[in-house]
Amino acid sequence: MKVLLVYFSFTGNTEKVAFSILENLQKNGVNCEVFKIEPVLKFKYIFWLFLSFIPSLPFPIKNLKLLKIDNYEAIILGTPKWTFNCPPVTYFIRFLKRVKFKSSIKIFFFLTYGGFGEDAYIKKLKRKFEKSGFTVYAVEKFRRSEIIKGAVGERIQKFCLKILTSINPSYPHISET
Ligand SMILES: Cc1cc2nc3c(=O)[nH]c(=O)nc-3n(C[C@H](O)[C@H](O)[C@H](O)COP(=O)(O)O)c2cc1C
Repeated sequence: MKVLLVYFSFTGNTEKVAFSILENLQKNGVNCEVFKIEPVLKFKYIFWLFLSFIPSLPFPIKNLKLLKIDNYEAIILGTPKWTFNCPPVTYFIRFLKRVKFKSSIKIFFFLTYGGFGEDAYIKKLKRKFEKSGFTVYAVEKFRRSEIIKGAVGERIQKFCLKILTSINPSYPHISET
């Protein structure tokens, strides 16, 4: 069973959580590979902020051709919450929809956010996946201030436990990390 951990991070919070998830899953014997979403162009915050107001706008990302989605049984997507839309992540989801070869691929996602609108954003993202024929098995959210304080360890562990039991229902324990 191979799992793909995909994330986009502009200021490092989502990356921090992604690395903790990776460490936890690997300690629990999961064969997990990582794909970092990188837009083909670098923009300053203010331009991304402008684009984030346009719902469903995709923005192209690098190295997608290297990804062989049919190698994976599950995908964990990490994204920051951006106003109405995070264009590089939207591009990835559209790609996933196009190359999806089996609807049984399991989707997990997590969100990092500053402090507002996260629940509606999660609902929208979940609906986007489901409309494309995917099943979302677990979702988690992490507030920026708690990530910075280092106060998300327990929730990361819980999220990983959900992933572990979903990809292997007979999974016995999660190691204490
Ligand atoms: C363009 C942009 C839009 C954002 N919009 C929101 C928002 O609507 N609600 C919110 O809670 N946080 C918002 N944030 C804050 C980020 O979601 C938060 O800082 C997140 O942890 C960033 O993840 P990163 O460090 O991996 O890029 C926004 C940040 C950016 C750059």
